[in-house]
Amino acid sequence: MIYTKIMGTGSYVPSKVITNEELKRFVDTNDEWIQSRTGIKERHIVTDQGTTDLAYEASLKAIKDSGINKDDIDLVIVATVTPDNYFPGVSNLLQARLGLKEIMTFDVNAACSGFIYALNIADKMIKSGAYKNALIVGAETLTRLTDWRDRNTCVLFGDAAGAMIISRSEENKIQDIVCGSKGDVDDLLICNNVNIKDPEVNAASVQDHIHMKGAEVFKFATRILPKTVNELLDRNGIKLDDLDHIVAHQANERIIGKAAKDLKFGMDKMFLNIGRYGNTSAASVPLAIDEAIKLNVLKKGDKFITVAFGGGLTWGGALIEL
Ligand code: ACO
Repeated sequence: MIYTKIMGTGSYVPSKVITNEELKRFVDTNDEWIQSRTGIKERHIVTDQGTTDLAYEASLKAIKDSGINKDDIDLVIVATVTPDNYFPGVSNLLQARLGLKEIMTFDVNAACSGFIYALNIADKMIKSGAYKNALIVGAETLTRLTDWRDRNTCVLFGDAAGAMIISRSEENKIQDIVCGSKGDVDDLLICNNVNIKDPEVNAASVQDHIHMKGAEVFKFATRILPKTVNELLDRNGIKLDDLDHIVAHQANERIIGKAAKDLKFGMDKMFLNIGRYGNTSAASVPLAIDEAIKLNVLKKGDKFITVAFGGGLTWGGALIEL
């Protein structure tokens, strides 16, 4: 039987910080509203860096942390909705920047659930016996898609990358992963692609911004988080008490609080770092896991569920022992 485990993690955020107070320069908002509704105090945003730059920095740290030789990496998957180009993908550019062998690399788009999707794919590819060591990255520069005049959305997002090396193992550490999707016909959370251009006109296309129906997304999120956690518990015949922590996608502290309350799981065991980063989409989960490990909140032997939801609509969760 082939099992998998986490070998190392790393994360990176760009240096520029925008506080809630500073957002008042762009929109009619205030620190009290943002903190009480979301838990966010500040966010890091890119100025001259792209998604690949963030992914590169996080990957360097994860490779170092894992102790494996980069030549032994045989798969790279990057979860992102903000690639630097239509093509080549962030994963392609990352392979070259890191000087990896000419291995299989590809990007995955599942919005904020993207990292769990990437983890699921890499986990199954390793368990098939065909691959040994995967670099999985969640990297986003969502603030490039932000409408800085829309106070409903611009206060929420930040930029970051998180990376993880997972490998073939004799111990069953990445124990189960579930993912789901439900096509969103109501445009709850959408950023349109540019329109197909009329060749007669060939007008310059305009980049769309993020549109979100916040209250509807809130309802979806607070329903799907506990549902996914319970599904993982049921599938594996374990109880909530068996978990040391839950590391949820950091979209809104109130969403995490409501999920904890409905699950009857202590808020002290729900890892939180949204205050400093905002919602970093696919980077949120690996950034939170890396920080929880580095802060010694997640320790070797701990059992935890990581769970995410996002545009698509998509969701996913993983039951992991460190
Ligand atoms: N500052 C001040 N006031 C604001 C702001 C702001 N930044 N934004 C909205 N308001 C106002 C609204 O205009 C509204 O005013 P009105 O009553 O005069 O119309 C009032 O505040 C209340 O707005 P609500 O939308 O009801 O506020 P709510 O408590 O629902 O919080 C929020 C909004 C934070 C967006 C919440 O709905 C939420 O977190 N939803 C989920 C969002 C989410 O998780 N998105 C990410 C998904 S992951 C992905 O794939 C990207």
